[in-house]
Amino acid sequence: MSNVEKSSSISGFYKMAIEERIKIVKNFSGLNEEETKLFSSSLDIQTADRMIENVLGTFELPLGIAVNFQINGKDYLVPMAIEESSVVAAASNAAKIARIKGGFTTESTNPLMIGQIQLLNLVDVATAVQKIIDHKKEILQIANDQDKILVKFGGGAKDIEVRILDSPMGKMIVTHLIVDVRDAMGANAVNTMCEALAPVLEEITGGKVRLKILSNLADKRIVKAKAVFDKVKMGGESVVDAFLESYTLASIDPYRAATHNKGIMNGIDALIIASGNDFRAIEAGAHAYAARNGLYTSLSSYQKNENGDLVGELELPLAVGIIGGAGNIHPKAKLCKKILGINTAKELAEVVACLGLAQNFAALFALSTVGIQKGHMSLHAKNIAVMAGAVGDQIDKVAEQMIKEKKIKLDKAKEILEKIK
Ligand code: HMG
Repeated sequence: MSNVEKSSSISGFYKMAIEERIKIVKNFSGLNEEETKLFSSSLDIQTADRMIENVLGTFELPLGIAVNFQINGKDYLVPMAIEESSVVAAASNAAKIARIKGGFTTESTNPLMIGQIQLLNLVDVATAVQKIIDHKKEILQIANDQDKILVKFGGGAKDIEVRILDSPMGKMIVTHLIVDVRDAMGANAVNTMCEALAPVLEEITGGKVRLKILSNLADKRIVKAKAVFDKVKMGGESVVDAFLESYTLASIDPYRAATHNKGIMNGIDALIIASGNDFRAIEAGAHAYAARNGLYTSLSSYQKNENGDLVGELELPLAVGIIGGAGNIHPKAKLCKKILGINTAKELAEVVACLGLAQNFAALFALSTVGIQKGHMSLHAKNIAVMAGAVGDQIDKVAEQMIKEKKIKLDKAKEILEKIK
């Protein structure tokens, strides 16, 4: 059975035993016994030692599943690797509400990355620019000679853009190499091409190349996610209005926009990490994009439709890959991609964007109504209870008492636990 025919709408998933949840994911994603065992195993030390330097061990994060996601008519169980409580619950909650009006829809560009080649020491900048443009065909050919496999799969260097920048050191030229990286994140392919082109550009212009590296502001690799959130489920049009008031602050104020976007990245990073992608690259690109018009602002936008429902949209660059990099080495990253059932980097990026939108909606919905503490803190309280040594039934009892007393602190948890014992 394909994911298209299966439903990720699973009520009470969080109340099930871990084994039961694993069974559901196993059946949904067609995992074999060996893959199922990976949930409880760690990255082996030899693999870790090949991934980074000076390895001593591995560092684990909880891996959860967000349920209820329907994207472009297809159901997904979304793996999330994250240390913060309430994020997975919030994503599942938002996806459940989005489902009422048909789930999420997406749009995305081709996977175009930008490589930058910086040229200095130019006698005549305007002439140098013209010479680069005149040699475009040759430049693209040399770039594509570096990666014949990428070209074979329909990718490769597609275009160049030449920019003149003023600097305290005088004028410089930055040539952007636009590369379709297909299913890769693309850093290696782009960097190899840029390095190969450095001497070529020096010869063409008579200048000196300094930097030759990919840009993490991947603003030609844009994903848009959209969902309609039912006004009735939200509690009526007044709640939609309250939501819009909350959102408006993020659209005009960088202090609020930073927190608002952090909420979006809660979801995005969790899937980026679970799929073995580079979350620093995604973060850098997202925040640079949020400031693209000179003011750091919200990555998402909201409005009310003619029916009074809330329409949410999220737009950001997402340079993610499904081939190469840690995602092809880390067994759990491979497992998470199988759980997702994604076939292309574009599809992965679209799921990532929907998760970001869901996360943002859930946080703003809570902030505009009961406040974040109710949901977030009740889950946080359970963590504190565990830290205090609570086990089994004690966890809920200690958490409930802390919430009742409005004191969610380790010493309070220990005090309550002592009394229970
Ligand atoms: P609720 O309405 O009380 O939940 O929300 P409910 O009992 O009606 O359940 C609704 C659904 O939520 C459930 O459906 C689950 O899918 C999910 P069901 O299974 O019942 O059919 N759900 C859970 N999933 C897993 N574990 C759970 C759980 N409970 C419900 N324990 C909820 C409760 C926490 C979901 C809600 O209050 C919420 O979404 N809160 C937002 C929490 C949040 O955004 N946390 C992120 C961290 S805060 C932050 O860092 C970002 C921030 O600063 C960003 C910003 O300022 O914009 C806030």
